[in-house]
Amino acid sequence: MAKNTLSITDNRTGKTYELPVTDDTIKAIDLRPLKFDDTDFGLMSYDPAFTNTASCRSQITFIDGDRGILWYRGYPIEQLAEMSTFPETAYLLLHGELPTQAEYEQWIYEITHHTFLHENVKKLVEGFRYDAHPMGMLVSTLAALSTFYPESKEVRDPEVRRKQIYRLIAKTPTLAAFAYRHSRGLPYVQPDNDLSYAGNFLNMLFRMSEVSYEPNPVLEKALDVLFILHADHEQNCSANAMRSVGSSLADPYCSSAAAAAALYGPLHGGANEAVLRMLHEIGTVKNVPKFIEKVKTGEGTRLMGFGHRIYKNYDPRAKIIKQIADQVFEVMGRNPLLDIALELERIALQDDYFVKRKLYPNVDFYSGIIYQAMGFPVEMFPVLFAIGRMPGWLAQWQEMLLDAEQKIARPRQVYTGHKQRDYLPLERRGGVPEPERKPARAAT
Ligand SMILES: CC(C)(COP(=O)(O)OP(=O)(O)OC[C@H]1O[C@@H](n2cnc3c(N)ncnc32)[C@H](O)[C@@H]1OP(=O)(O)O)[C@@H](O)C(=O)NCCC(=O)NCCS
Repeated sequence: MAKNTLSITDNRTGKTYELPVTDDTIKAIDLRPLKFDDTDFGLMSYDPAFTNTASCRSQITFIDGDRGILWYRGYPIEQLAEMSTFPETAYLLLHGELPTQAEYEQWIYEITHHTFLHENVKKLVEGFRYDAHPMGMLVSTLAALSTFYPESKEVRDPEVRRKQIYRLIAKTPTLAAFAYRHSRGLPYVQPDNDLSYAGNFLNMLFRMSEVSYEPNPVLEKALDVLFILHADHEQNCSANAMRSVGSSLADPYCSSAAAAAALYGPLHGGANEAVLRMLHEIGTVKNVPKFIEKVKTGEGTRLMGFGHRIYKNYDPRAKIIKQIADQVFEVMGRNPLLDIALELERIALQDDYFVKRKLYPNVDFYSGIIYQAMGFPVEMFPVLFAIGRMPGWLAQWQEMLLDAEQKIARPRQVYTGHKQRDYLPLERRGGVPEPERKPARAAT
């Protein structure tokens, strides 16, 4: 009978080792006994960018990149996008099960009644330059929240964790909206507890002189679905940052600030912003073939919004987003950039370069076009992503804390620098000495 083990022969010593295989995985630490002599540290695995390393066991999100499948807690993303709401999906990610009616009502109550920010946060936001990127503001204000809730560092206390989870899910849209209003020079709008999560966010962004704001139901629903699609994506760069920083037992505000910072980069949450810039640069449908050629020869940029570390098939979220696009365009008018995007997709999906490398549209390819049609400036795109991703970050963080196998995250390295050498005083290091610099004298 086949055994669930892996036999490895170390050709340096001729010894054979048998390693257990669990869930198609060997433990990297099981390689350590492979030593060529007693002074050897032991064998390590080398995996820059973690392309083939599982850093945890997780029950939150499942992705089958080859088949284009995404489940949260076992539920297909398509069903959640169609039938759930973002707050309910957030509950599911964090608790593992869909809520009962009573649990749902309590959850909604909590995440609706923690939306307000301390007035000092407003002052903090006011301190930013008028053109500060809202993502920089979000990262800073998330971290700043830890100073308002010092008890949040008691991360081992489940009650404390629960409270901070309510706060982070409830307050992130308020922080995001304040950052947006600041960049427009508009007064901040306080949360309206009578509106839905997405509806209230639209209210805090776009309300002007109305006595009460009524969100457009199509846009409210579209935003809610976009948040669902972004709610988690297993061990992506920002979730990994959340877990890694959280593993030092930092409080969840600082950990989620780190996660948001990771999300900011153009290869992660900044990609939809990059897609829009790319579409603007292409300008018209007739420039698409030339642009694709430049991507293929490596002269230009990558085709932003295409390709994914995990998906080697059409990203299921991109399919859902394409459908939402039509509904949003019916209300807001068609975004002319859509035609360029459709043409890029059409050509790329037939082109050998993209086919061979299994490069398909990812979630960011169409999301920017919708956000723009909804009236969001490009700088707000990663911020919208962060609001959607917050429950996922928190679920990953909590799972990490409750996992007895986890410790402070601390990878190994392969040192390729100098061997030990002796310090040389400055005058003995060679080269022409710099002329002596005298401090400039103040004008008298
Ligand atoms: C997402 C991404 C970072 C994944 O990268 P990765 O898993 O490290 O894949 P690699 O960078 O090793 O790419 C593999 C090959 O595909 C090519 N490739 C990957 N994405 C590409 C893109 N968007 N356009 C053109 N070529 C691309 C690479 O040049 C490489 O080709 P090579 O084998 O000839 O060198 C990458 O696909 C990318 O940069 N996409 C654009 C940014 C984006 O949309 N990010 C959002 C992710 S949700």
